[in-house]
Amino acid sequence: MSKTKWTTTKIKACKGREKIVSLTAYDYSTARIMDEVGIHIVLVGDSLGMTVLGYDDTLPVTLEDMLHHTAAVVRGVKQAMVVGDMPFLSYQVSIDQAIDNAGRFLKEARADVVKIEGGAFRSKTITALVENGIPVMGHIGLTPQSVRAMGGYKVQGKTDDSISRLKDDAQALEDAGVFSLVLEGMPVGVAQAITKMLEIPTIGIGAGPHCDGQVLVVQDMLGIFSNLKPKFIKQYAALGEEMSNAFRAFKKEVHEGVFPGTEHGY
Ligand code: KIV
Repeated sequence: MSKTKWTTTKIKACKGREKIVSLTAYDYSTARIMDEVGIHIVLVGDSLGMTVLGYDDTLPVTLEDMLHHTAAVVRGVKQAMVVGDMPFLSYQVSIDQAIDNAGRFLKEARADVVKIEGGAFRSKTITALVENGIPVMGHIGLTPQSVRAMGGYKVQGKTDDSISRLKDDAQALEDAGVFSLVLEGMPVGVAQAITKMLEIPTIGIGAGPHCDGQVLVVQDMLGIFSNLKPKFIKQYAALGEEMSNAFRAFKKEVHEGVFPGTEHGY
């Protein structure tokens, strides 16, 4: 396992050699545990809008929300790459605004790179960010910030038109300078074809096993967040249940005068 910082160069070099492992995190303690076990990329996703802040989707998440949580994650990490996810309307309005806001992730929150959603139409913005020293992770397929435009969380790449658009988007983003690309919510074969076609690594979520890496939302894989349960999620723990049991046990012991015991007193 590498003991040095995961940089864009090292992530790119994983392609064809080592699967890239990524999880979302939104706080110091979780990020620290992920870093200690050698997770390569910790993504401070705008999914925090749902998993941490309780919104129905990611649209209300603000730049300040993201900077606050990204800075906390950065403080917990020594080796993992920290990706700051740019929230809805923080990079779409103008290229100048995108540079300003992406710059805040690096200057203030101390993230390593930023992630933005969108296809070929995002190329100019991506090139401007990269030329100004801000590495960018792309994100295509089911892009949650476009939930209204897509008419819900819908798997993309189900028609010939949609497949060729996804491939064109992937190529355009690589040409624009992204160092890696999230493929979300698309058929296994489409993600496989895109992964094969690109020189940069792809990181899949709901995109099958052939991507160069995988990412999951931490609350989903730990079994804490049960509002949405898409098919692609694998639950590696049932922490929601564990937490309920612990909270119940605490409540009972306080009611019964069992906690605190003499050993907990000064
Ligand atoms: O916001 C997020 O957590 C994400 C991942 C699902 C890729 O964008």
